[in-house]
Amino acid sequence: MRFDVVTLFPDMINQACSHSIIARGIDSGVIEVNTFNPRDYTKDKHKKVDDTPFGGGAGMVLMCQPYFDCFDAIDKDADSEVIILSPQGEVFNQQLSMELAKKKQIVFICGHYEGFDERIKQYTKAREVSIGDYVLTGGELPALCMIDSISRNIEGFLGKMDSAHFDSFSDGLLEYPQYTKPREYCGLEVPEVLLGGNHQEIAKWRRKQQFIVTYKKRRDLFDNFKKNCNNKYDIKLLNEVLKEL
Ligand code: ADE
Repeated sequence: MRFDVVTLFPDMINQACSHSIIARGIDSGVIEVNTFNPRDYTKDKHKKVDDTPFGGGAGMVLMCQPYFDCFDAIDKDADSEVIILSPQGEVFNQQLSMELAKKKQIVFICGHYEGFDERIKQYTKAREVSIGDYVLTGGELPALCMIDSISRNIEGFLGKMDSAHFDSFSDGLLEYPQYTKPREYCGLEVPEVLLGGNHQEIAKWRRKQQFIVTYKKRRDLFDNFKKNCNNKYDIKLLNEVLKEL
């Protein structure tokens, strides 16, 4: 997977991608992250990338020319997706992350300041994506969130041990609680079932915990899971949990 990021702040992307698991993914060649700066494509001697809005109003608007030319300079794969980061887009989630992980290339277009000239969206035929209902100062952090999440869903990115298959949301439920040594700390104890070595009991407890945690924290996810669940074992456990709650 190649991530190409159009940004006025390439250091934000390159710095963040030089640590931990993302850096390992780059080193191993599973992912590639490139940055393209529209400021390098300006024709203006002051390297201007924004201007005042037609019709008046506060703030500046990112201009077409540097963005069009920067976008054109990127080699596009036939199987590429172009994403413009904006709080007005469809909201990113695990399902979209898994869908995008199947692509060969994703081009992210990050904005800053007040916004883009609308024609940048039209020209790049970009899909508009938001990472949540709040406004950030630019698209770099959203692009990084998406790169991180999408990468985790790419075959070979995570080791087998931390496979994305076991993630929260991978089957629409949150995760069960985890514990490590010692058995007791400051009077707080590890649940007995985890200490016994009965793997069937442990698996059952963990599945029930997933239902309980999801029910308590995210009733929307729980209701959705319950509606679509057709696994007999899960249905039995779900009913047990609902009686206990
Ligand atoms: N740019 C500013 N806020 C954003 C958000 N919530 N998602 C994506 N891009 C953004």
